[in-house]
Amino acid sequence: MPDIPWTRIFPDIDHRWIMGLRQGDLAAFFAPQDPTGTVRAQRQRWFSDEPEKYTALLPEAEAAMLETCELARTLGSPVNAVEGSPLDQLLELGPAWEPDLVWMHPGADGVHHLAGGAVCFPSSWSMPEMLGRPMHLVHQLVPGLNDLLARQIDTFLAKLSPGSAWQRENWGVSRDGELNHHPSRPRAVLDATVTLEEVWIRLEHQLLLKLPSSGSVLFGIRLELVPLADMLADRTAAQRFSRLISTMQPTAARYKGVESARPALLAIMDAVLGK
Ligand code: HEM
Repeated sequence: MPDIPWTRIFPDIDHRWIMGLRQGDLAAFFAPQDPTGTVRAQRQRWFSDEPEKYTALLPEAEAAMLETCELARTLGSPVNAVEGSPLDQLLELGPAWEPDLVWMHPGADGVHHLAGGAVCFPSSWSMPEMLGRPMHLVHQLVPGLNDLLARQIDTFLAKLSPGSAWQRENWGVSRDGELNHHPSRPRAVLDATVTLEEVWIRLEHQLLLKLPSSGSVLFGIRLELVPLADMLADRTAAQRFSRLISTMQPTAARYKGVESARPALLAIMDAVLGK
C-alpha cells in the first residue's frame, strides 16, 4: 500500500463537506493491493451468502455492468462471462475486484440516479435501499450536504467526459477494523470510553468514470482501514484531524458517529500532540 496522502485527505480548514475531486488513475485504482487475499475472500463470502443485501441492478444499468466486466478483463482481472441473469453476472464481477462498485445512470432530464451496484463494504448504508434514487436523495442522509454540494455534484456528473477517471476520498471514524459496515450488522459505538487502540480511520478512496458505451457513470469505492495511532504518527495529519473533529457541526458529528466520543477523541489527540 502506498503512503497515505493525509494532508490531502485532511485539508487545513474547519470541517465542511467538500468536492475534493482530482484526475485519477483507473488502472492503479483497480489493481490488486491486498497481497493477503482477505479483501476478496470477504467479498466472495458476502456476495454469495447474502446477495440481496449487497447487490442490485435496474435494467438501465445492465449495459454498464457488462461494459465494466469488459473493463475488468482489459485491466487484467479475469471475469468469466456467466450464462444466466444479469444479476448472476454481477455476482461474478463483484468479488473479482477489491473495490465496491456502483453505477449511476442519467435519466431523460440528465439527472443521475443510482441504477445498480455491488457494495459489501458500505459505510452505514444499504445499496439496494438506495436503488433508483437520484444523487440528492442518496446524499440526504448527510446533514447539510445537499445545500452545499447537490448542484455541483449533478453538474459534475452531467459534464463528465467519457473515459476520463476522477478520484476523491471520504473519511470516517470507527471503533472496529471491520470492512463491512452494513446497517444490519452489529457495531461497537464510539463513546466517551473510547481509547486510542480501539479507533480506526475508515478511508474511502473513490473513483468516478463515465463509461463510453453505456453512458453510465461507474463509481468505485476502495475501503482502507488505518489504526488511529498510525495516522497520528504524522504530526501534521494529527493537527488537521483534530481541527476537523473539533469544528464539526453537531449534526455532522452525529452523522459521523463521533458526537459522544468527541471530547475523548480530542483528549487523545491533545496527548499525542503534547498539548
Ligand atoms: C462528485 C461526486 C461525489 C461527491 C463530491 C460526494 C460527496 C460526498 C460527501 C462530502 C459525503 C460525506 C462524507 C463524510 O462523511 O465525510 C458523501 C457521503 C456519501 N456519498 Fe457521496 N459524493 C459523490 C458521489 C457519490 C456517488 C456517485 C454515490 C453513489 C452511491 C455517493 C454516495 C454517498 C453515500 C451513500 C454517502 C454516505 C455514506 C458515507 O459517508 O460514505 N456519493 N458524499
